[in-house]
This record gives sequence, structure tokens and C-alpha cells, in this order.
Amino acid sequence: MSLRLAILVSGRGSNMTAILQAIADRRLDAQVCMVFSNNPDAPALETARSFGVPTAAISHKGLSRAAHEQKVLEVLTPLNVDFVVLAGYMRIVSAEFLRNFSSPDNRYFRVINIHPSLLPAFPGAHGYEDAFAYGAKVSGITVHLVDEHVDHGPILAQMSFARYADDTIDSFKSRGLQLEHKLLPEVLQEIAINGVHFYSRQTEAVSEAELNTIGRTT
Ligand code: GAR
Repeated sequence: MSLRLAILVSGRGSNMTAILQAIADRRLDAQVCMVFSNNPDAPALETARSFGVPTAAISHKGLSRAAHEQKVLEVLTPLNVDFVVLAGYMRIVSAEFLRNFSSPDNRYFRVINIHPSLLPAFPGAHGYEDAFAYGAKVSGITVHLVDEHVDHGPILAQMSFARYADDTIDSFKSRGLQLEHKLLPEVLQEIAINGVHFYSRQTEAVSEAELNTIGRTT
């Protein structure tokens, strides 16, 4: 199924660009109906327009979270998107906002986030910096469904990368960002083909085959 997407951004928009490029290259069967930003000066908006994608921006400044989200919903709701993708959208979204995007079976919200750490480690606005400062030898990135908590919700995919002895925060970050640009379009394409699948911590066990691939010996 070709996915109808809205992408929410706050700044540079390199993940947004990766999605638009994957669509242009026919690696992703999707249509981006709108790129929205809470930051009218976000460079991502100009990039989106260069791909011919409609944009909208409404600053959150001077508005309560509820008032701002109401305005965002007025933009997004008429688009009838399948998924909202948070691609560097540096705003917390409320449970009320998420309820507008309930899945047909009410198991999840149709809102996807990319985060620059192996969640649940290092949530927040500075995933790479926090992992680097902590001295993590292995870090990574996470694509997940968004729930009512910050940087939280069912994990769709993760990729890890090593920290090298001579890494600087910039080299560390840029290695992670390259993985982000690969993983996010791949996850969206997987959803376009097979729908949403995730392990529910409560109801689904990891299969024996998967345990073997991660090296369990007993
Ligand atoms: C990305 O590294 C993304 O994972 C991160 O912001 C950056 C946005 O870059 N998101 C978060 O930290 C969310 N908590 P981009 O604008 O170039 O895509």
C-alpha cells in the first residue's frame, strides 16, 4: 500500500530529505502530503519545497501546548494521512494529540519517531551527546511508534554502531546520522509492504529462532 505521510520537523530536516529521496528513487512507496514545522525558519521547509512538497509552519511560541496542537491538527487532519513521522520534531506531543491518529484496531498511534540512541537509553533532546558523554562503547538509533511518554513506545527497528577510540562527538554523530537516513525510509517501506509489526512486551515472546541468533546458549 502506498503510504500517505505527513512529516513533522523542527530544523535541518536531513531525515525528511532521506524520506523524500527514497520516494524519488522508488525505494519507498509513499507520498508526503505535507511537511510541517513548529519553526517557521526551519531549513527543512525550503528543502521540502524543492521536492515539490507542500509545507506549513506554525510557531509554538506564545501558545499553550494544547492551543498549538489544535492548530497543527487543523493542518494535518484534512490530509487523512496513514502516518505522521516525527523527523527531528523537537516538541513533546500530548496523548490528546496522539488519539487523533489511533490505529484502526486501537493498538497503537499512527505516529512514528526517530531517536538518536538505543532507547530506552538516553531519551531526550540530546541522544548522541548524552550517549557520548556517558562513555557508551556502543550506541545506536531507534525508530519507534510514539506513545504517551517521551521517546517511548513500541520499537519498530534499531541499528547500533560502535564508538571508536578516536571518535569526536561530531564523528560519532555523523556515523549515527548516516544510519538514521538508511533506517527510517526502510522501516516506512516495510510498513508500506507488510503493515506495522512490533513486539508487545506484554503479549509476545521472542521466538526461539531469534534467541538463537542473539547467541543464547542455554
Ligand atoms: C536527528 O538526529 C533525530 O534523530 C533527532 O534530531 C535529529 C534531527 O536531524 N531527534 C531527536 O532527538 C528526537 N528526540 P534532522 O533534522 O537532520 O533530521
